[in-house]
Amino acid sequence: MIPQIKEALLARERAYVPYSKFKVGAAIKLKDGTIIHGANIENASYGLTSCAERNALFSLYSQGYKKEDIVSITIVANDHGPVSPCGACRQVMHELMPKETKVFLANTKGEVKESTLDELLPYAFVLDEKPHE
Ligand code: THU
Repeated sequence: MIPQIKEALLARERAYVPYSKFKVGAAIKLKDGTIIHGANIENASYGLTSCAERNALFSLYSQGYKKEDIVSITIVANDHGPVSPCGACRQVMHELMPKETKVFLANTKGEVKESTLDELLPYAFVLDEKPHE
């Protein structure tokens, strides 16, 4: 059984996707057992669409939780294989989640791939490592 799959599927039902009809759900598990949900929310001005993973993460921080509170994230969609997070979400997850976060990518058929943030985004952009003024 995929961890938090039920929670990610519940989040997915809240997606607002009149344009793509592609519902995505995300569930982030915290050390204290709390689950933070996220769903993708689209807009008639397409570029303003916000992905499920990012919505879950931004909600988590907005509620006062921190990077250190996070254990895992499960993301699910009705895709041909385990859903593959977009590039923007990979960058955001890499910065806002701990390095050791367990990442479960799933689909509605129950297929799952376990991954890591470094595997999803090798050689990530990290501002602190740049010599800036
Ligand atoms: N989407 C996500 O929510 N997460 C991803 O990682 C990939 C794409 C959403 C954005 C849009 O609402 C729909 O999937 C189709 O691109």
